[in-house]
Amino acid sequence: MIDLPAADRHHLLVTGATGLLGSYLVRDLLLDGQPLAVVVRRSRRESPEARVERLVARWEHELGKRLPRPRVFAGDLTKPRCGLADADLDWIGRHCSGLLHNAASLSFRGSDRAAEPWLSNVTGVANMLAVVRAADLEHLHHVSTAYVCGLRIGTVAEDDLMVGQDFGNDYERSKVEAEAMVRAAEGPATTTIYRPSIIVGDSHTGFTSTYHGLFAVLRLGHTLQTKVALGTTSGPALLRLLGIDPANHKNFVPVDWVSEVIAHCVQRPEARGRTFHVTHPEPVSNVAIGTLVQEAVERFSRAASPDDPQRCDEQWFADNLAAQLDVYRSYFRNDPTFDRTNTEAVAGHLPCPTLDHPRLMRMARFAIDEDFGRAPRLSPRAVGAVPGAASSPAG
Ligand SMILES: NC(=O)c1ccc[n+]([C@@H]2O[C@H](COP(=O)([O-])OP(=O)(O)OC[C@H]3O[C@@H](n4cnc5c(N)ncnc54)[C@H](OP(=O)(O)O)[C@@H]3O)[C@@H](O)[C@H]2O)c1
Repeated sequence: MIDLPAADRHHLLVTGATGLLGSYLVRDLLLDGQPLAVVVRRSRRESPEARVERLVARWEHELGKRLPRPRVFAGDLTKPRCGLADADLDWIGRHCSGLLHNAASLSFRGSDRAAEPWLSNVTGVANMLAVVRAADLEHLHHVSTAYVCGLRIGTVAEDDLMVGQDFGNDYERSKVEAEAMVRAAEGPATTTIYRPSIIVGDSHTGFTSTYHGLFAVLRLGHTLQTKVALGTTSGPALLRLLGIDPANHKNFVPVDWVSEVIAHCVQRPEARGRTFHVTHPEPVSNVAIGTLVQEAVERFSRAASPDDPQRCDEQWFADNLAAQLDVYRSYFRNDPTFDRTNTEAVAGHLPCPTLDHPRLMRMARFAIDEDFGRAPRLSPRAVGAVPGAASSPAG
């Protein structure tokens, strides 16, 4: 390795590269020519290096072009200084000028602060801030969530944080604490915050690697269709059963657009120091979600057969549902209006693709074809176009 003087700090340190949003950020930043270093933990089967190699190779396959490799550091947010060795910190200090902290636990429930989501989201942020100080990183970028607003209604400004609001779950509480710690951090010259709303699949291919939110309700409809011989599934009836108000709206954003906006802002000096609501200007109504679930499971899920020995009865479904009702309700409560002044000012030329029925159907089909992450998957692939689906993103 060639030693570089401190002036050559061109790399951006990124966390959460192996996650849904992180994998797109890696793609977009590498395509923009931004040299990257990533902090990645081992998985059960693979080393951090192998995970990153698989991720970059997957994009190369999809894009049909070579990409540079990020420098990989084995690290875990839950460990002091994220488990990075002195030599790692030395390299980061000499080569990196900023951190894009995107890693987080998306566990919704857990009051034990020694477990998730607190461990990665609060202790993990404290550990990451120690890395920022040790490596003297100048620019801090943090991926928060629009739902730091908790249960607020009305209009939420991009700079609002703790205004006495209540929260829907422990994940939101942990993310609000994390954002407060990041804002208060001493050391970096600038701190920039990105607050996406609910991230769904890729607007072009339907690809996703996580199945929260929209996909959780879809999965419920799919389970009903495939395991319980009830006859025709009714999406609107399912929403009623879940206590989801059809008059409410949810703010979904496609992962490729969220990444495009963040990658753009990270590289623009005029974006530094601001907070961005990376949210959709046109939320989706719960009525549209009900229709989507119904149509998607009727078209793409195999219907339960009365002769199937694996078939479950309605009581099984009701019991399983009861255990998870509060999670669904906290997800599908009404959203406030997220003010987008900063996002419009810096990334207004990157319009968010319309989440119309054909595009949402493509995402639903991907999730069902992948059996919500249970089917073995080596690479993201475009889902064959749903008849009538838009073939290119709006804008
Ligand atoms: N998904 C949404 O709807 C949504 C909405 C708003 C904001 N966000 C925010 O967006 C960011 C990315 O979310 P996502 O949807 O891409 O989640 P994701 O797919 O679950 O990815 C999470 C990433 O964080 C890493 N990570 C978690 N805990 C870690 C730890 N202790 N040490 C090291 N790495 C750790 C994971 O690594 P492994 O692969 O090793 O697990 C993974 O790379 C998060 O900050 C999240 O809060 C997400």
